[in-house]
Amino acid sequence: MKKITIAFDGHSSCGKSTMAKKLAEELGYLYVDTGAMYRAVTLYALQQGLMDATSKQINEAALQEALGQIQITQKQEGGKVKTYLNGVCVEDEIRQMRVSSCVSPIAALGFVRRQLVAFQQAMGKEGGIVMDGRDIGTVVFPNAELKVFVTASSKVRAQRRLLELQAKGDTSLTLEEVQRNIEERDYIDSHREVTPLVQAPDAKLLDNSEMTIPEQNALVLQWAKEAMGE
Ligand code: DC
Repeated sequence: MKKITIAFDGHSSCGKSTMAKKLAEELGYLYVDTGAMYRAVTLYALQQGLMDATSKQINEAALQEALGQIQITQKQEGGKVKTYLNGVCVEDEIRQMRVSSCVSPIAALGFVRRQLVAFQQAMGKEGGIVMDGRDIGTVVFPNAELKVFVTASSKVRAQRRLLELQAKGDTSLTLEEVQRNIEERDYIDSHREVTPLVQAPDAKLLDNSEMTIPEQNALVLQWAKEAMGE
C-alpha cells in the first residue's frame, strides 16, 4: 500500500500530538514532533549561554554558527517518542518552563527555521510519516496527501490544560489565567513574521471542542484511509 505523508498543524494545547502519535501507531508510520526540535535548539542556546533566559536576548551570529554542530534525533521508546540532543536524552528538560518560555523567539528566527525545515523534509522523503507542528502542511510538506488542522475553543483548551497542571500538583493558576495564556500564544503564533500559523487551504479542519478522544482518533484514521485510496 502506498505510504503517504500526513501533516498535523494547529493551535497549542488541543491534543494534536497525542492524536498524531496514535495515528502513526495505527498505520505503522514514523511520528515526528517538530515542536520538540525547536525546543531542543532552545535548550542548546540556553546551555551554551547563547540566549539569556530573562531578557530573551539571543546571540544570533553565534547560534547560527553553532547550528551545524547540533544533532537532534527522535527515538520511539516504549510507546513514547524521546528527543535527543547530541546523543543525550533531553525529553524532560525541553518540556520545562525555562525552555517553554524561551522557545517562541528561537522559533521565529529564519535561519533556525530553514535548517529545521530542511531536516524535516529529508526525514519525510520516503513518505510513511506523520509530522506534527505549525507549518507542516504549508511549508514543510505542501504536497502532503493528508493535512489536518486541529483546533478547539480557547476555553476548552484551558480547561484541559488546567486539569493537566492540577494532575501534576500545580494549583497556582486559575482557569482565566490559563485561558489568557493560551489566547496570547495563539496570537503570537498566528502573527509572527516568519511562517505564521495558518490553515493550509486544502487542510481538513478538526475542531475537537465537542469530541471525545476516540471520536477524533477514528475520524483521522478514516481520513488517512481515504487519502491512501482505501
Ligand atoms: O508544539 P510545541 O509547543 O512543542 O512547540 C514549541 C514551539 O515551537 C512553539 O512556540 C511553536 C513552535 N513551532 C513552530 O514554530 N513550528 C513548528 N513546526 C513546531 C513548533
